[in-house]
Amino acid sequence: MESTLSIIKPDAVAKNVIGKIVDRFESNGLRIAAMKKMQLSVDDAKAFYIVHASRPFYGELVKFMISGPVVVMVLEGENAVAKNRELMGATNPKEALKGTIRADFAESIDANAVHGSDSAENAKNEIEFFFSRREIN
Ligand code: CMP
Repeated sequence: MESTLSIIKPDAVAKNVIGKIVDRFESNGLRIAAMKKMQLSVDDAKAFYIVHASRPFYGELVKFMISGPVVVMVLEGENAVAKNRELMGATNPKEALKGTIRADFAESIDANAVHGSDSAENAKNEIEFFFSRREIN
């Protein structure tokens, strides 16, 4: 059993497709172990994406992530990290396989509907960033 962090980004929340995205996870063997809708502050977004601080897109990424509420989730299941990334599709929706979340709901590499942890180690850190132990069950 593995856990991973998923974020439904402001573009997908604004499109009112939270339920449709959650259904992709639940229909494919992942369980929602924790979930909350929240508005990130500038400091939240900067800290969460600190690994990208030196990348040219960092400023735009932070601006986008605070442009509206997000839904953060802990997904649990067998190979949850890889499974979630498979369901999301490529970072750039133009390159995402047909039937993936990003192919179906995302517009651009910035507004790409969802985030998912890229390793079990990062998943642990990202989950701790958003959730206390008693919020995960
Ligand atoms: P995400 O999986 O949330 O991780 C970092 C985000 O930066 C990524 O999704 C994209 O939305 C955004 N981003 C913008 N430009 C790029 C880029 N050139 N390469 C990778 N990520 C990018």
